[in-house]
Amino acid sequence: MTERLTIALIYGSGREGRFADTIAGWLEPELSALGYHDIIRIDPVELTFTPGGLDEASAQLVESRISRADAFLIVTPEYNHAYPAALKAIIDSCFRPWHAKPIAFVSYGGVSGGLRAVEQLRLVFAELHAVAIRETVSLAHAWTQFDPVGNPFRPGQLNGQLAVLMKRLIWWANA
Ligand SMILES: Cc1cc2nc3c(=O)[nH]c(=O)nc-3n(C[C@H](O)[C@H](O)[C@H](O)COP(=O)(O)O)c2cc1C
Repeated sequence: MTERLTIALIYGSGREGRFADTIAGWLEPELSALGYHDIIRIDPVELTFTPGGLDEASAQLVESRISRADAFLIVTPEYNHAYPAALKAIIDSCFRPWHAKPIAFVSYGGVSGGLRAVEQLRLVFAELHAVAIRETVSLAHAWTQFDPVGNPFRPGQLNGQLAVLMKRLIWWANA
């Protein structure tokens, strides 16, 4: 049986002028339209980073949200064939709350659509005893896939991929 679940949406980019906000503008209403889950957000722009990672207040906030979540959707760009440092700081801020939970990825970037970042994240989450979902939504040359007000040019294709991803994520979260 599918229960009402809490899904944490984690953004990888905290960059000023980030494209992540365009992705979020499509993704968040689409997830709400699915309707049957609670969505919570973990966003680098709302956190404070220090040379050692998150500051104490941010680390506590992130840990409490990761603990609350039944599953995760990570929205990450690719920076130099990897994922952003802000995302690593979020991931490393706690250990046990990740255990035995599923993780799905929405990635974006240039030619690779962020897939090289996702492949690295799969290795990281294996160490956290978390389950990375095979399916991804990947946006190559992401900025060419949305009109100037942020609507995807091919909503059917994108929403279809997201629906498959979410179905798998929910299956694992229930398992
Ligand atoms: C420092 C940096 C490195 C990047 N390296 C890559 C890369 O290796 N491969 C790629 O496809 N895109 C790369 N890009 C392009 C980004 O994936 C693209 O600009 C994306 O929109 C960045 O996400 P953001 O705007 O939400 O931070 C890079 C961008 C930056 C800022």
